[in-house]
Amino acid sequence: MSKMDQYISQMPKAELHVHIEGTLEPELKFQLAERNNIKLPYHTVEEMRAAYGFDDLPSFLKVYYEGMSVLLTQTDFYDLTLAYFKKCVEQNVIYAELFFDPQAHMVRGVSFDTVIQGIRRAQLEAEERWDVKSQLIMCFLRDMDAASAQDALEASIPYKDWIVGVGLDSDEAGNPPIKFKEVFRNARNEGYKLTMHCDVDQMSSVDHIWQTLNEIGVDRIDHGVNSLEDEALCRELVKRKMVLTVCPISNGYVTQSRKTAEVKKMLEKGMRVTINSDDPAYFPGYMNENLIATQRDAGLTKQDVTTLVKNAFSGSWLSDTEKQIMLSQLHTYSETTQVS
Ligand code: ADE
Ligand code: ZN
Repeated sequence: MSKMDQYISQMPKAELHVHIEGTLEPELKFQLAERNNIKLPYHTVEEMRAAYGFDDLPSFLKVYYEGMSVLLTQTDFYDLTLAYFKKCVEQNVIYAELFFDPQAHMVRGVSFDTVIQGIRRAQLEAEERWDVKSQLIMCFLRDMDAASAQDALEASIPYKDWIVGVGLDSDEAGNPPIKFKEVFRNARNEGYKLTMHCDVDQMSSVDHIWQTLNEIGVDRIDHGVNSLEDEALCRELVKRKMVLTVCPISNGYVTQSRKTAEVKKMLEKGMRVTINSDDPAYFPGYMNENLIATQRDAGLTKQDVTTLVKNAFSGSWLSDTEKQIMLSQLHTYSETTQVS
């Protein structure tokens, strides 16, 4: 392992864009299927991975939603989430903001309570055992209607103290941010932070990013790489100090490129870009693999890499005190660790 790879691997890191359902590795999928008496259309882990033949967002989402069929009980969600936190420990990720998709479970008859209690139990255990901290972001599925998102919002209210914000994911084609303007206004009134996916190379990516700023008033944008096509938009994002959660390995699967040159451009423009894993069980690579790939592809310096990670801590939805503690941990690490 090179010194730079070592620097990245051992660095204290934060992840702001990971779908907990997208961390369901084939091995655990088989275990849960057996426990729940569900027959999967594959015999082996290799066969399952070989069937992950997606090359765009809709073809990925089909496999992603199919995979969730094995998640039924509170214990299933606990096992799923604890497995992700074990990866965090291996990779020195000390803080994570986890997306979850309640509607995708509620339509299968799995209650909001089942989902969130299982995830919450793993969060408390990970903090206690390994000092890995985390917060939850509930995503609405943009290919369902706004009334369904409103129902999910209402279902979340009894658990409000366990959820830091709301997001918007799933298939973006024909489902612009504005479709959810009212639901997001209601979520804001409940005290939730707001973020939205603006997936890469979508039909109206640039318009959608403008909508998140001008119509929704988001606190963060997930992906948002296509902002580089519009100078005025880039200036606006810099002016608002908007954090963008970019996911290079994921981009390499759902588009033709990992968009790592774009990450460098964003850094050069002073945009607050971060690196994340998105759905690491499907787009193979957790935080370290994503950062290492970005550094190599784009020839990033130690300072560039450190800025990416600093942006994640400072752009997180932690309290200012917690942010300062983690940022100073990162600062000490980078000051005392050589890469050459
Ligand atoms: N749901 C899970 N992963 C997603 C992604 N990368 N884009 C949109 N919706 C998602
Ligand atoms: Zn995502």
